[in-house]
Amino acid sequence: MSVAIITGASSGIGASLARELGRRKWKVGVIARRADLLDAIVAEVRAAGGEASAATADVTDRAALDGAVLALEAVLGPCDLMVANAGSGQPVPMHKLPVDSILATMRLNFDGALFSAASVLPGMLERKRGHVAVVSSVAANRGLPGNGGYSASKAAVSTLWETMRVDLQGHGVRCTTIHPGFVATPLTSKNRFKMPFLLTADQAACIVADGLERGAKDITFPWQMRWVTTLMRWLPIWAWDRMAPKR
Ligand SMILES: NC(=O)c1ccc[n+]([C@@H]2O[C@H](COP(=O)([O-])OP(=O)(O)OC[C@H]3O[C@@H](n4cnc5c(N)ncnc54)[C@H](OP(=O)(O)O)[C@@H]3O)[C@@H](O)[C@H]2O)c1
Repeated sequence: MSVAIITGASSGIGASLARELGRRKWKVGVIARRADLLDAIVAEVRAAGGEASAATADVTDRAALDGAVLALEAVLGPCDLMVANAGSGQPVPMHKLPVDSILATMRLNFDGALFSAASVLPGMLERKRGHVAVVSSVAANRGLPGNGGYSASKAAVSTLWETMRVDLQGHGVRCTTIHPGFVATPLTSKNRFKMPFLLTADQAACIVADGLERGAKDITFPWQMRWVTTLMRWLPIWAWDRMAPKR
């Protein structure tokens, strides 16, 4: 049985992915800050016949995260798959100068993902085997109006993972970047606009688990969003400025 560690697994996509990988006979380690929710996920995985363990940590605290990963590996065994999923963001338009909010988002979405990879890479490099995935977003493709911190942080992790994927070729470590479209979770429950092609967290988890198990380098979903992001990426600046939703 292979071991997967998922950060941000107390709710939303991370919690659903923990349950899905548990069903697929992975041993699952879950990390987040809310211990009660993590314990409930562990109980669900075990009730379904799987193996799971929880450790609390704030992913922006590198020492705490390293400690949580070590604790999980002591129980479950060496990590084969790390999914750096913890993340969030508050939409604030730039005219409000949201410097602190942007820095906090970068710290969670970028530093947290980097620390997650760093916590397992030494062991994976030594074993010449492993898989490190990050949950970015389709928001990485363009600076979304009113969401500068979120878009910038997701563009940063996608770019970092692109470098890692090539740098780690030949070292036995695979890298996957996950770009979800809209998924119904506590994060998106605050959105007051109609979210196109919205998936449930369980649907998202199934797509992500399929992609991870077949070793996909990029998992952009749902399929309609692959077209939308290609269009977003190639739209000329003048057209983007005219079409982008104003906040
Ligand atoms: N939902 C979407 O439509 C969507 C689309 C694209 C990308 N994403 C990305 O998917 C990932 C999961 O988001 P979600 O939608 O499932 O939202 P969510 O339900 O709010 O889950 C976020 C998870 O991150 C954890 N977390 C937040 N801050 C943390 C910290 N400092 N340290 C440790 N864990 C922390 C939360 O747990 P605790 O509060 O217990 O710590 C929670 O488990 C995020 O990276 C998000 O950017 C989501």
